[in-house]
Amino acid sequence: MKDERIRVAARWLHEAERVVVFTGAGISTESGIPDFRSPGGVWSRYNQDDLTYQRFRSHERYRKLYWEYDRARFPAMRDAQPNAAHHAVVEIERSGRLAALVTQNIDGLHQKAGSSPDKVLELHGTVHAVTCLDCDRRWNREEITARMEAEGIDVPYCEHCGGPLKCATIAFGQSLPADVLDQAFHHARHCDLFLTVGSSLVVQPAALLPAEARRAGAKLVLINLSDTPYDAIMDILLIGKAGPTAAALLAEFARL
Ligand code: APR
Ligand code: ZN
Repeated sequence: MKDERIRVAARWLHEAERVVVFTGAGISTESGIPDFRSPGGVWSRYNQDDLTYQRFRSHERYRKLYWEYDRARFPAMRDAQPNAAHHAVVEIERSGRLAALVTQNIDGLHQKAGSSPDKVLELHGTVHAVTCLDCDRRWNREEITARMEAEGIDVPYCEHCGGPLKCATIAFGQSLPADVLDQAFHHARHCDLFLTVGSSLVVQPAALLPAEARRAGAKLVLINLSDTPYDAIMDILLIGKAGPTAAALLAEFARL
């Protein structure tokens, strides 16, 4: 039965002209990066209430906690390699059909796989940069972590304005980059196929995108390992691991 669904989804991909691919942490677990809500995921190991933007702003001890959390997770992201699902998304782009790649992920694996940076909309930012929360200056992450190691500090501050530095990811309570969010909703409203890969679709506003695409008449395909609140509006549900499932979809697409 799943093969039939793969065949139909591949035909829709072949007929599509403006595809939006929307990804979550589930596309990167096969690359060795834990997701957030699967058993053993990030939120079973860290208290997300301590890692909000408001807490970070409020006190040095929360900034220390946040940097410890971020630095503990960074090596897996730095060393991870894209998997077959990331490469399948690159193939969609190379077919000329990709309108946008909207990701909730901060790991940079789409760009590492070869997705064009100008096609990638990082709704929740990136671990590969650091920003000053007061003057918005931005650094490569390596520069700041090298400075932290050299100076033996665990909470860095801006050399220009003294503001607190934080990795350029969007914490709970922090607003998403407005221009990126606007572009993501624009593409969702103007696509003819919306492919979601590896998201629990529980964090808004990102989770609103599939329904927005449906309202605009797009067909919806979901590749995921577990249920989501939006399963009922998906035209095709491909329950399975992102790597092999996306690879099977693109293999069928290539035969058309
Ligand atoms: N293949 C397919 N699906 C997978 C795989 C896999 N190999 N591994 C995990 N999944 C599925 C899980 O079943 C789950 O439904 O991917 C989904 C991942 O969901 P979350 O862990 O909630 O990640 P995500 O949806 O990206 O979370 C959104 O929440 O905490 C915030 O900022 C964080 O960007 C994140 C946001
Ligand atoms: Zn500053």
